[in-house]
Amino acid sequence: MSTPSLLILPGDGIGPEVMAEVVKIIDWYGAKRDLKFDVSMDLVGGAAYDVHGVPLSDETMARAQEVDAVLLGAVGGPKYDVLDFSVKPERGLLRLRKEMDLFANLRPAQCFDALADFSSLKKDVVAGLDIMIVRELTSGIYFGEPRGIIKEGNERVGINTQRYTESEIARVARSAFELARKRGNKVCSMEKANVMESGILWRDVVTEIHEAEYPDVELSHMYADAGAMQLCRWPKQFDVIVTDNLFGDLLSDAAAMLTGSLGMLPSASLGAPMENGRPKAMYEPVHGSAPDIAGQGKANPIACILSFAMALRYSFNEGDEATRLESAIEKVLADGVRTADLLAGEGVTPVSTSEMGDAIIAALDASL
Ligand code: IPM
Ligand code: MG
Repeated sequence: MSTPSLLILPGDGIGPEVMAEVVKIIDWYGAKRDLKFDVSMDLVGGAAYDVHGVPLSDETMARAQEVDAVLLGAVGGPKYDVLDFSVKPERGLLRLRKEMDLFANLRPAQCFDALADFSSLKKDVVAGLDIMIVRELTSGIYFGEPRGIIKEGNERVGINTQRYTESEIARVARSAFELARKRGNKVCSMEKANVMESGILWRDVVTEIHEAEYPDVELSHMYADAGAMQLCRWPKQFDVIVTDNLFGDLLSDAAAMLTGSLGMLPSASLGAPMENGRPKAMYEPVHGSAPDIAGQGKANPIACILSFAMALRYSFNEGDEATRLESAIEKVLADGVRTADLLAGEGVTPVSTSEMGDAIIAALDASL
């Protein structure tokens, strides 16, 4: 098989700093595990706007369609707040998701033992937590038509449309059931069937797919507001949560914070299999561009590095190497190495972004 290709889009804010650490890890795999990647770099978000006047050029979009996987850092920043909506940094990210048809967004929320004290919730509520949110990523209110701001009489009206087809719901439900079979074999589907027709359809289709194809998996349903409450009350009741684009956006930020820091959580956005059998895929941290700390070497690179671990697992069939990387991170945290976001003010000196990367490389060396 030819060398797998990776397109790296560092983006804005802390994106380039955290991605520099991922590049070190990729180089380590090439040198020490003979796992080589054909890596190319390009611009997205505000960085692309500054050069091309658009947050994603057609050339970059075309390249993203060709490679085996895309790694993205983060997009956005206050400098771009004044831009027209159509060229805001976020539009670049949404274009990638939509045109690559990355309908299943996997957002794990795992609590590392060394960080259990760091959560705003009690330790026994989060210790050992391991849940997976599967967020529908290419439809729903993010993309539904009609949309816009129109004039009605003498006032303006803002419009967005929640819209889901049966097939859009069915395919993300299948992704969730498949994942559950490899984990705790439980899926909880979240919508608001009590107030939204799209929620009624969501519940029906998930139930139909379950009965016809995955009766061995345990399925439950929750209204998304109650789901948010249960996530805070006792998150360990969940294994896989499947939900729509907007609810998934909210619930995954809430779930992320259960684990202590948004700086820890990776994500994988997966589409249909390509000709070579690999899914179309983009990997990115759940955190944003954090402009307040950008360029200062303070950012935590772990979410971005864990996103590369997800790439090893889901795109390149290297589950053992993904586990090696995750274990190296676990070891570094257990040894007390902390970036600034992980300090609970207990007199530990924080390490810089690149020192955290170096510590993870040292732990990888020690794993050989
Ligand atoms: C996310 C982000 C994005 C979203 C933004 C940056 C467009 O919040 O990936 O969760 O809303 O999907
Ligand atoms: Mg979000």
